[in-house]
Amino acid sequence: MTPHISAKVGEIAKTVIMPGDPLRVKYIAEKFLEDSKLVSDVRGILAYTGIYKGKEVTIMASGMGCPSMGIYSYELFKFYNVENIIRIGSCGSYIKDLNLFDLVLVNECYSDSNYAKYQNGCTLNVLNSSKELNDIILNKARELEFNIKLGRVYCSDVFYSDIVNNKEIVNKYNCLAVEMESFALFHNANVLGKKATCVLTVSDNLVTGAKATSQERETGFNNMINLVLNSLL
Ligand code: HPA
Repeated sequence: MTPHISAKVGEIAKTVIMPGDPLRVKYIAEKFLEDSKLVSDVRGILAYTGIYKGKEVTIMASGMGCPSMGIYSYELFKFYNVENIIRIGSCGSYIKDLNLFDLVLVNECYSDSNYAKYQNGCTLNVLNSSKELNDIILNKARELEFNIKLGRVYCSDVFYSDIVNNKEIVNKYNCLAVEMESFALFHNANVLGKKATCVLTVSDNLVTGAKATSQERETGFNNMINLVLNSLL
């Protein structure tokens, strides 16, 4: 057990799928897994381990932002022998032709977060995800005939910013979309010699102002969940 996870070692699978939201964790466990068991609920950050098509998997929430993702992904990799973490989340799209519910596979994230700097002195501000995991997910997307766009996202520390210039994030840093957790996840995977990636569903378009309703989000995210669960096989 760690300060933030009450599961015993051995109760968490080698691969963990991490949405931000604990209620989405519960939804995935109840709707998609067999024999799922709640293995941790410290601070409401639910984690369920169960079986998908014969394969053991854990679904656990990351909470929002790099500090929260940083704590949970570090403890999973370091103390629970987790090998792979796939974040599944929502993002705001910076480009017109990335529409609501389109899928993005993050091969790189750019961030101005201090997470890596204060974790171990790493001063990079662009981090890569695992090419091995990305190739598996891209092949599965092809097989399931899901469109998915591979690209760089901006991992922001501030949801309500008065000063971040979205045009600069797109033009200077070449980001397709914005989310808030991938940088801490990719950094921890790098530091601890593990694998991580991130699949996102567009929940808002920051150019057109389109926004998914909360009901639409529930069903709109099923493609991403199916894609990632089937990539385990
Ligand atoms: N900003 C940051 N993260 C997000 C957004 C956003 O606009 N939309 C979905 N996740």
